[in-house]
Amino acid sequence: MNFQWYPGHMTKARRMMQENIKLIDIVVELVDARIPMSSKNPDIDDLARNKSRLIILNKADMADPAVTAGWEAFYQKKGFFVTRVNSRSGSGMKEVKALIETACKEKKERDRKRGILNRPIRAMVVGIPNVGKSTFINSFAGKATAKTGNKPGVTKGKQWIKINKNVELLDTPGILWPKFEDQQVGLRLALIGSIKDEILNTTEMAGEFLLFMKEEYPGLLEQRYSPEVLQAADENGEMTAMLEKIALSRGCLKKGNQADIDKAALLVLEDFRSVKLGKISLERPEKQEESNGEH
Ligand code: G4P
Repeated sequence: MNFQWYPGHMTKARRMMQENIKLIDIVVELVDARIPMSSKNPDIDDLARNKSRLIILNKADMADPAVTAGWEAFYQKKGFFVTRVNSRSGSGMKEVKALIETACKEKKERDRKRGILNRPIRAMVVGIPNVGKSTFINSFAGKATAKTGNKPGVTKGKQWIKINKNVELLDTPGILWPKFEDQQVGLRLALIGSIKDEILNTTEMAGEFLLFMKEEYPGLLEQRYSPEVLQAADENGEMTAMLEKIALSRGCLKKGNQADIDKAALLVLEDFRSVKLGKISLERPEKQEESNGEH
């Protein structure tokens, strides 16, 4: 499968990030709780050197809670502040505030030693497209989002949202570019819907996903479709056989009552993305450690 991310976009995003990062103390990095490794761009480690770091596992409502707990421990061990949220419902925002306050204390202490008093801590949200940056900012800032820049006569420039007397948040998030070099990373980004389906082979994607589900969450497959889906294993054509079973049981049929596996594939992807299949994590921290695929 081939994925595209135009170099022009990447250069522009990187330049913006470099400019804005100079102004801030803490980087609030959003990753998708279903793929906390593939939705993270390692370049941020370089860009955010000497800054406090908070990793937020967003869309935690869609991911497997036990696996999410594993990821929290994984990133804490690496020295990050970490928490999980559902930006859509706003759950977990108190913890985010508390963690920023903790990070602030360290920063304030450093400021105090250098004779700087009462300077607010400035934060910036970063993450790959569609990870939920805007939703998070709206939810986190709550009523404070009222943008002064929209009033006539207010000079345009960087807008800071005052969260409380200690913390200000840059209202424009930093866009990170995903890393597609690894085919598995590309596949996972495609599965969560980060890449437009039109340019992808959705049938192949759904097939790969079903093989993964058969290994990691067989019970969920059985529950949503039928036990026959799991039994449909004929060596080479395993993916196709599984899709065929789903097509037949769901009435995805072509002329002559033939199984329409392309239609079944779209149904499977939709079931995953709408959490109808259940809360599923596509990546586990243990596996990253095993394969040394750490970023
Ligand atoms: P971005 O700024 O990083 O590009 O992402 P954005 O906030 O636009 O969010 C992308 C999609 O993810 C939106 O859905 C948003 O509602 C959804 N989303 C963000 N955070 C969460 C979360 O914690 N849980 C869940 N379940 N969804 C989340 P959309 O379908 O594109 O838009 P809409 O239908 O919500 O308007």
